[in-house]
Amino acid sequence: MTETPSDKDENKLANFMRKHADTIFMVLRNTVPNLPIRDFVAITRYSDVKEVLDNPGVFRVTYDESMDDSVGPFMLGRDLTEFNDRDKGIMRSVMQRGDFDRIRSTVRQIAEESLAACERDHIDLVPQLTRIVPARFTQEYFGFRTASVPDILRWSLATQLDMFHNSFEKDPVRKERVRENNRQAVAEMRTHLNDVLIPDAKRAIEAGDARDDILSRLLRIQFNDAVEFDESRIVTNVMGTLVGGIETTSQAAIQTLAQLFKRPRPLAMAREIARSDTDSDDDRAQLLQLCREALRFDPINPLVVRRCAEDFVVAKGNLRRRKIRKGKTVLVCTRSAMRDGRQLELPSAFALDRPDHHYMHFGFGHHRCLGDHITAVQLPEIVRAVLRLNDPRPIGEPDKCGGPFPEHYRIAVGRTEG
Ligand code: HEM
Repeated sequence: MTETPSDKDENKLANFMRKHADTIFMVLRNTVPNLPIRDFVAITRYSDVKEVLDNPGVFRVTYDESMDDSVGPFMLGRDLTEFNDRDKGIMRSVMQRGDFDRIRSTVRQIAEESLAACERDHIDLVPQLTRIVPARFTQEYFGFRTASVPDILRWSLATQLDMFHNSFEKDPVRKERVRENNRQAVAEMRTHLNDVLIPDAKRAIEAGDARDDILSRLLRIQFNDAVEFDESRIVTNVMGTLVGGIETTSQAAIQTLAQLFKRPRPLAMAREIARSDTDSDDDRAQLLQLCREALRFDPINPLVVRRCAEDFVVAKGNLRRRKIRKGKTVLVCTRSAMRDGRQLELPSAFALDRPDHHYMHFGFGHHRCLGDHITAVQLPEIVRAVLRLNDPRPIGEPDKCGGPFPEHYRIAVGRTEG
């Protein structure tokens, strides 16, 4: 498919906006914080972003088409239904905080093995570490044991591209091709779950095997019919963990590292923690804080999208109030909210004492990320593994190769240290 002149203009505009996002958002926050542009309204201030995301009955998710078409009805494709309350509750109940030590040691081991297999002086972090760790973690923790890493990565990419990056595609042929790749990937994933993973997990459970992963936990529970959480719900929700957890984690790790490498003092602090063998709870909390603050300067999602289901006035009672008409697409700019000086002290400074509620990397409200607590362990572990290398230095910027995800981020190193 060749690029038309209007495609080129739009790409140029999109690139310009990406490059200057923080300046554009700052101007909007201070002039027209709730800006209508054609069929869209961009919400940029912290309090208004939270107001919109806290009203899922009015501001509806728009993922249903691509999700229903592939994984089936899913929590992120619905608002205020059993697919949200019941499914998320059940998934939360099996993705337990008591697993943190196990998650940490699993991720640590995978990261160390991945780095040990690399050339000693040059590593391309995306293919060699940041995609491999969440893919292998998905095998071990979520239960995709017999799915190969290349298949997992292919399914993850195809589903992400359609569900989260295809909605503004104007070319119907390109749009349908991405949709079809998603359908195909999910069909393969579903077949693997139904024909291999689930029968295998059931055999293991019957044989009294102590296997303990999210799929096995869900199968062991045996829900009463009244709950209406049958095997097809298990399949959809387990597929959702693969869709949601791989490219996000890889991108977050790369963008966190890239931001740390630009900042000598935070980098020195992060390296000291990573290289210390104390590995205390305080160290871990501090490294997590360094990661999420670094990511605030280049979050993986600049915004989330909602569609307004009924006329609604945002910031009612304020001068900046804006009536949003039914049917408008709402760009809820979480990146902008995380830089709003009305809420955050010195928002352009790198600070380590910001409270949890200033961060919106995982969204906010009804659809807040299901894997937020897992990421709080996995992300710092990946960063730690890189910073334990001997004098890691980036060679250039992360390269997205024209797509939405980092494909390469090359670093030079000496040798790995234990
Ligand atoms: C750095 C890693 C991650 C980031 C930045 C991230 C980000 C997000 C964001 C922003 C949302 C909300 C989307 C919206 O409101 O439109 C979300 C939802 C979700 N995430 Fe994550 N995510 C990450 C990791 C994970 C992992 C590891 C899983 C695996 C379980 C996961 C599963 C989900 C699911 C299932 C939802 C939908 C929740 C709902 O609809 O209630 N995510 N994520």
